[in-house]
Amino acid sequence: MNAAIIYYSATGSVHALARAAADGAAAAGAEVRLRKVRELATQEMIDSRPAWAEHVANTSDVAEAELDDLAWADVVLFGTPTRFGNPTSQLRAFIETTGPLWQQGTLAGKVYSAFTASNTAHGGQESTLLTLANTFYHWGGIIVPPGYTDPIQARAGNPYGASHVAGDGPPGEVALEAARYQARRAVETASVLKAGRVAQQSEALASPR
Ligand SMILES: Cc1cc2nc3c(=O)[nH]c(=O)nc-3n(C[C@H](O)[C@H](O)[C@H](O)COP(=O)(O)O)c2cc1C
Repeated sequence: MNAAIIYYSATGSVHALARAAADGAAAAGAEVRLRKVRELATQEMIDSRPAWAEHVANTSDVAEAELDDLAWADVVLFGTPTRFGNPTSQLRAFIETTGPLWQQGTLAGKVYSAFTASNTAHGGQESTLLTLANTFYHWGGIIVPPGYTDPIQARAGNPYGASHVAGDGPPGEVALEAARYQARRAVETASVLKAGRVAQQSEALASPR
């Protein structure tokens, strides 16, 4: 299984969730690529918020997402802060470069899931995650949300995807475990799908009609 964790983060909350998701995917046996999307803000804007500038400096070693990461992956988890109830323009800008892959059908049939952070508890986390899912529908993706399929979800509380209230401080163990669980479940689902597809192909080869 190949899992791509593709995220944007300005001040580190979503980055922490992305790292936890990468750990969860690896624990489920996947090879993982953790990738940040390209920053669109000017250096002046970044420098206007010390926490933003610090995060950019601290994550300079994280590779930037490329279309090949999507083509390579069986499972893709997207992470983004909530901005006015929507994903960030940085993540959308990356998504809007995927036209050629979409046209070739490369994005169809993969497993997709998403996670987010917002400053307040009712600041639009579900709205952001559902908005991202619109794109997964267009791609013909298989959307795998965490639901309430594990006890951690009763504590984390968001069946749409791991999420964190950044106004409370950095993500704590519950949010991080929810992100690990979400990625694990996505990889396990993709693994069952892949095994089923392989079995179907072998069957078709063994008994051609
Ligand atoms: C332009 C802008 C719009 C935002 N909109 C929302 C919002 O709609 N709801 C909310 O709760 N927080 C909002 N926030 C706060 C971010 O969601 C929060 O800073 C982010 O989740 C932190 O994630 P990060 O540390 O990974 O950057 C907004 C922040 C910015 C800069």
